[in-house]
Amino acid sequence: MDSTKQYDVVVIGSGAAGSTVALALAGHTNIAIISKADLQEGSTRYAQGGIAAVLDATDSVDAHVADTLRAGDGLCDETAVRFTVERSREAIQWLIDQGVPFTKQRNDNDDHGDASGSESNYDYHLTREGGHSSRRIIHAKDATGEAVSTTLLDRLKREPSIDTFAHHVAIDLVVERDQPQAQCTGVYVYDCETQHVITLHARFVVLATGGASKVYLYTSNPDGASGDGIAMAWRAGCRVANMEFNQFHPTCLYHPQAKSFLITEAVRGEGGLLLLPDGERFMPRFDERAELAPRDIVARAIDHEMKRLGSDCVYLDISHRDREFILDHFPTIYQRCLDLGIDITREAIPVVPAAHYSCGGVMVDVQGQTDLGNLYAVGETTFTGLHGANRMASNSLLECVVYAQACASDILGKLDSVAWLPEPRYWDETQVTDSDEDVIISHNWDELRRFMWDYVGIVRTTKRLQRAQHRAKLLRHEIAEYYSNYRVSNDLIELRNLAMVAELIIDSAMRRHESRGLHYTLDYPDRQTHGHNTVLYPPKFPG
Ligand code: FAD
Ligand code: SIN
Repeated sequence: MDSTKQYDVVVIGSGAAGSTVALALAGHTNIAIISKADLQEGSTRYAQGGIAAVLDATDSVDAHVADTLRAGDGLCDETAVRFTVERSREAIQWLIDQGVPFTKQRNDNDDHGDASGSESNYDYHLTREGGHSSRRIIHAKDATGEAVSTTLLDRLKREPSIDTFAHHVAIDLVVERDQPQAQCTGVYVYDCETQHVITLHARFVVLATGGASKVYLYTSNPDGASGDGIAMAWRAGCRVANMEFNQFHPTCLYHPQAKSFLITEAVRGEGGLLLLPDGERFMPRFDERAELAPRDIVARAIDHEMKRLGSDCVYLDISHRDREFILDHFPTIYQRCLDLGIDITREAIPVVPAAHYSCGGVMVDVQGQTDLGNLYAVGETTFTGLHGANRMASNSLLECVVYAQACASDILGKLDSVAWLPEPRYWDETQVTDSDEDVIISHNWDELRRFMWDYVGIVRTTKRLQRAQHRAKLLRHEIAEYYSNYRVSNDLIELRNLAMVAELIIDSAMRRHESRGLHYTLDYPDRQTHGHNTVLYPPKFPG
């Protein structure tokens, strides 16, 4: 059974990136936005710390650019960095105009030293995170993502020109190759309710599918972060870059019942100290910026100390701050920890690093245009050049909004000139049957995520990467066979994509013969003088 629907623009993903594209296009054209789970489910919703932007009168675009370049360890594209940072104030203003309730500056002495205060043009509290030389993170307490996503989705649902499709999983892009330049003409989508595949025929498709950190056993990301956009774009013929740079957040809660719960970097920004089990503070031994060093350095230091001592975790202590301050700034973290028996106003929090963010992804220009005609990508699924070898904290939501706005403007400029291409062929399910061996899917999921954690994690070696590569290839073949014989399901679609993305990460890591930013290998511990991006060309690359 196939049914085809037509939209000028199909946006795949309803996080910060996808919602912003859709809202910026609303009223000008008809749009479908699809999400593989509830519309709100995705990394955006769980963002805690906030959004980096030049808002304080004592801060400057140059300083934000310089900090980003430094965190990116020589691989940021300065044009992309400047493009993003110069638009940061405008992006925040747009979010405020949509109604995002950012935390206001308190008028009493907020006990945070040098917050934005009277010198800011904005009346908002700015916090601090690793790598930033100023307070420049605007936030909604410690639940910024919830505030952004609730606000944008509320608006989106009220827009008559936008149709929303929750619980619809994009499987693959439709590509028309009988053109001077290969063009994307739509997407095949699995409807989780009817369990059938529909076709969305479009003039423009935007991938806003988020990152791929679910490829690792331990992650701060929600379940859907399986790199679907990267895998779909790769299969369709787009280049991907810098996949080896997967960021590990230093501080995720370590507790048997706490699946994927982050302790925001803002806790360290507001004075939180990292301690060993015996109470010793260790970060000053690793970097002069101590707890506020960029994430790659802090995560590696924690990994090193845990391995050295054979301990299961380290501790993050903010209990020396006033109780009232902690409750005011970190209410979500306070409550979550308290539910698990940890009172953060009185005791340190057990933490471990976990996979958090994909710095690499689908290659795009500053409008989000990919290698395929009429296919755009925005947000964490992309490689824009902003993050280099290591993303600086809170630059991601900023990138989502800035690139989404630029992408929407580019599409608006082309609406009158891009014609409809022929309707895609329908999805043929006649040759496949229902699977009677779902255990294969769950087994492969576990195996993949475990060997990625063990062999392609914070510290790598060539031998470990070779082992991982061997297993990833075997898995890909096994999954491809399964995929061609059985009807698709959400789990199978995600597993197929995860296996693809795992191979791209491993291939990229094998090509980098140095240690830089988030990629650290014992076989090449030094950093080369000249940095380069790892660009992978797909078999179907149109160029
Ligand atoms: P997401 O928000 O992940 O949304 C992806 C969307 O794509 C979802 O709607 C999903 O359903 C959909 N999707 C995916 N695959 C498919 C498919 N096949 N078919 C249909 N739909 C699909 N960054 C900051 O800048 N500041 C922070 O404070 C911050 N804190 C964070 C805290 C946590 C716990 C996490 C996990 C991340 C944090 N980040 C933060 C990173 C940031 O939140 C993400 O990079 C950003 O939200 C990504 O937005 P996105 O729109 O690209 O993707
Ligand atoms: C955090 O709040 O620590 C996450 C910030 C980010 O990932 O940018």
